[in-house]
Amino acid sequence: MTSPRKILSVFGTRPEAIKLFPLVHALEADSRFESRVCVSAQHRGMLDQVLSIAGVEPHHDLDLMEPDQSLDALTARLLTGLGQVIDSEQPDVVVVQGDTATAMAGALAAYYRKVPVAHVEAGLRSGDIHHPWPEEVNRKIIGTMAALHFAPTDTAAAALRRENIDPAAIHVTGNTVIDALHWITGQIGRQPELAADLAPLEGRFAGRRIIGVTTHRRENFGQGMEAIADAVRTLAERPDVAVVFPVHLNPNVRAVMNDRLAGLDNVALIEPLDYPHFARLLDIAHLMLTDSGGVQEEAPALGKPVLVMRETTERPEGVEAGTARLVGTDSARIVAETARLLDDAAAYDRMARAHNPFGDGRASVRILELLAA
Ligand code: UD1
Ligand code: UDP
Repeated sequence: MTSPRKILSVFGTRPEAIKLFPLVHALEADSRFESRVCVSAQHRGMLDQVLSIAGVEPHHDLDLMEPDQSLDALTARLLTGLGQVIDSEQPDVVVVQGDTATAMAGALAAYYRKVPVAHVEAGLRSGDIHHPWPEEVNRKIIGTMAALHFAPTDTAAAALRRENIDPAAIHVTGNTVIDALHWITGQIGRQPELAADLAPLEGRFAGRRIIGVTTHRRENFGQGMEAIADAVRTLAERPDVAVVFPVHLNPNVRAVMNDRLAGLDNVALIEPLDYPHFARLLDIAHLMLTDSGGVQEEAPALGKPVLVMRETTERPEGVEAGTARLVGTDSARIVAETARLLDDAAAYDRMARAHNPFGDGRASVRILELLAA
């Protein structure tokens, strides 16, 4: 009998945890693998929310988040810490997800030790190294080192081929975010209390259309965040809408939103929601305003119109499917595009259709088989 393949999954932020827990569940349940998990805790609270819901217990926790961390200091801590874990674990493969500092440093630390890297959500490209910043460069760096590229869509796979990556190393798997969404929806179906804490807000805002808002992108700090806050403030003047805004823990986001939006009747500025409650918010929202990557993927699957407050997107599939629209970070434009969806039922209905451009919920199973091959 051959010994199980040792897979070290490395992640550190909320979106990585959401997109990797389905794979970790699958690895843990399969005797062909020895699953090991290392979290950097680049995010502390928002990561822990996901670990707890998903029942993932890391074997290593670097606990390295610092308040308002700079990219260079964060990257230095990550590279040293993750290198030590890889030395101690001696895995056959290191799995990283997406484009965060943790993913980039995890891949680099593995590459320095000649450990093969498997990249989940490979091949996303906006074509602009400043949008999103620094993620566009992080994922390109990972792409140059990875041995296995798990592209969520054909578009992502084509982008990798254009960069002369060996086609035999590229596999279209779907995005594991849809696996996660299916899993959490099933959990909520069995235990509705998992997503029940929004009920008081739902009561308070009964009869109004709910706009869900999230924002956190570094390239939007400063002027962009201020413009987003001003747009939300203007929209909240309408008596027919209410805004539910789970505010990211990044102090650069919180300071602006608290300053410009606190105390408004129609605006609930709330703490980051755990995943079941965020799934509930997606469910009750009339539309979403966001600069998030993951939300751009979840909203089409649920048929929720999503206005993307960014200049470009590496996820064109949502726009092509008609559920997402790029609106930038100009305050007047955000207000105008949102008002159009609120006031033009035909325009709303055209966007409010469920599509599955990002996968069918079986991405982790495909990845598992490719890791076993
Ligand atoms: C990071 C990722 C980004 C991803 C985003 C998801 C990088 C460079 N950026 O951005 O790709 O889209 O996560 O949310 O990897 N904080 C807390 N508690 C938390 C999380 C964050 O207090 O649970 C605060 C801390 O002050 C921290 C700051 O937010 O220093 C920034 O966190 P960081 O991970 O560096 O950047 P994000 O903007 O969250
Ligand atoms: N999310 C969550 N709670 C929130 C906001 C978002 O659980 O209050 C989830 C959301 O469903 C998605 C992921 O977090 O799966 C997106 O994370 P984020 O926007 O922080 O990062 P990005 O996807 O932009 O990298």
